[in-house]
Amino acid sequence: MAVETTMDIFGLNTITCLVLLAVFLLFLRHYITGLNLPPGPPRLPIIGSIPFMLGKDPAKILAEWAEKHGYNTDIISVQLMGRTTIVLNSYEAMKELLHQDVYSGRVTTFIGDMLGWTKYGIVSSQGEKWKQRRRLALSTFRDLGMGKPLVEEKIQEEMIHLEAAIHQSLGKSFDIGPNINNAVSNVISSIVFGQRHEYSDVMFQKFLAECNNILARGGADSITLNFPFLQWIPGDLFNVKEAVKSSFKVTQDFAGGHVKRHLNAANDNAIEEDDFVYQYISQSRKRAPDDDTENVLMAATTELFLAGTETTTTTLRWAVLYMIQYPDIQTRVREEILENIGADQMPCMKHKSILPYTEATIAEVQRLGNVAPLSVPHTLLEDTQLRGYHLPKGAMVIPNLYASNMNPKDWSNPDTFDPSRFLKDEKYFKKDMNIPFGIGKRVCLGESLARMELFIFFTRLLQKFSFKDASEGNCRDVGAVTGLTRMPAPYDIIVQSN
Ligand code: HEM
Repeated sequence: MAVETTMDIFGLNTITCLVLLAVFLLFLRHYITGLNLPPGPPRLPIIGSIPFMLGKDPAKILAEWAEKHGYNTDIISVQLMGRTTIVLNSYEAMKELLHQDVYSGRVTTFIGDMLGWTKYGIVSSQGEKWKQRRRLALSTFRDLGMGKPLVEEKIQEEMIHLEAAIHQSLGKSFDIGPNINNAVSNVISSIVFGQRHEYSDVMFQKFLAECNNILARGGADSITLNFPFLQWIPGDLFNVKEAVKSSFKVTQDFAGGHVKRHLNAANDNAIEEDDFVYQYISQSRKRAPDDDTENVLMAATTELFLAGTETTTTTLRWAVLYMIQYPDIQTRVREEILENIGADQMPCMKHKSILPYTEATIAEVQRLGNVAPLSVPHTLLEDTQLRGYHLPKGAMVIPNLYASNMNPKDWSNPDTFDPSRFLKDEKYFKKDMNIPFGIGKRVCLGESLARMELFIFFTRLLQKFSFKDASEGNCRDVGAVTGLTRMPAPYDIIVQSN
């Protein structure tokens, strides 16, 4: 009765009152969370700063906001839909903050939850469990011989298969991307599962296609990331549920099969192969028997494929593209290789020191290619004070690697492809601000593997083949497509044998 009287006074029904109350609370929350955060672009209630980013390259606009629009700081805050986000726009800020535990959280995603990655993975988990698994995975990689002959040999072996595949297309116009993708995935497969797969293997191809599916659907997942209630709406509004189903099937069919085979062999004390899964099982049994090992391996091995395949493939696709766009640099790299290791010797890691221009070229490909421009988002594990600002627990933290790789203060003409910026006295000169693998506690776990793959694949490709534009100008204006990674649009080339 009393409620009805109130309604009469304002002339509103209950539903309208509730909606108005919800809108008022959203405004209040928006206002309160905006207090004492680092400066940043305008934020609208609910949608935040999204309208000011539409149609723009996110990494570039975030770096520009920090640089150009008067905030005068390398750390800005942005409201991305419902989520408070702190963007680190300089090498110095990332170096200072990303080594701290409190910045090492991960954003939980709907897909990650459904697949068990949040609970059992490495890329997607956080806290003590993540630390243990990361330590174990790193020491497993080390024991396998990262930077030592075993892994090097697996990469070299795969390179022979890649060469054979390229030979089938010599002189024809074709897209080299799928060949590179097969080779890179096979390196991970032989290191993680102890088995490579023929490029024609249907199960393997299906697995790779589904991996791409997961990455492509990541965009849709980001909507439910910001508005979790959307995942409970009946139907499949953003195709997210479909993605989860297909991803789950991949994990079960492919990774699951390999993991079970290894666990059975380990239980029978019949470990034969020296690979990541066997080493992980035996190390985890030695340290502390873990009931979750099967789940962890199912989640972590799929994550390793996802984290390691597209990034490495894309970097090599940028490398080939830049060699076509800059033919003089292609010639100079090839001459250095032929002069120092000859036309036939398979490249290995010890050749790095005698191929400084080649190494500098790879570093420049990684800098300008910006394959992971916004890294992988972190979250804050606790409320934190920074430079007099208050950063709330749960805020998303984006390391803007692009801002470091392209900062005009550190790189003259940052948009120009110029390997000589990594040379000093004709030797390779490492520059700290080039951080394609990120920095700090969450730095890429596969960095040494990726560096080996990039060096051996790239050096061998240029030693054995010459790359040309398939049609006049086709490769000159290839643009970047930015999703979870920044990749070149598909392009066709002609390859000739040297
Ligand atoms: C050129 C190739 C690669 C690039 C550019 C790259 C880049 C990155 C970046 C930027 C991150 C996020 C760092 C952060 O959160 O701050 C990352 C994380 C990670 N990468 Fe890579 N990556 C590459 C290859 C690989 C390979 C080959 C593997 C393994 C097979 C791998 C496994 C991982 C894992 C497991 C993580 C998560 C680490 C954690 O959360 O603790 N990556 N990578």
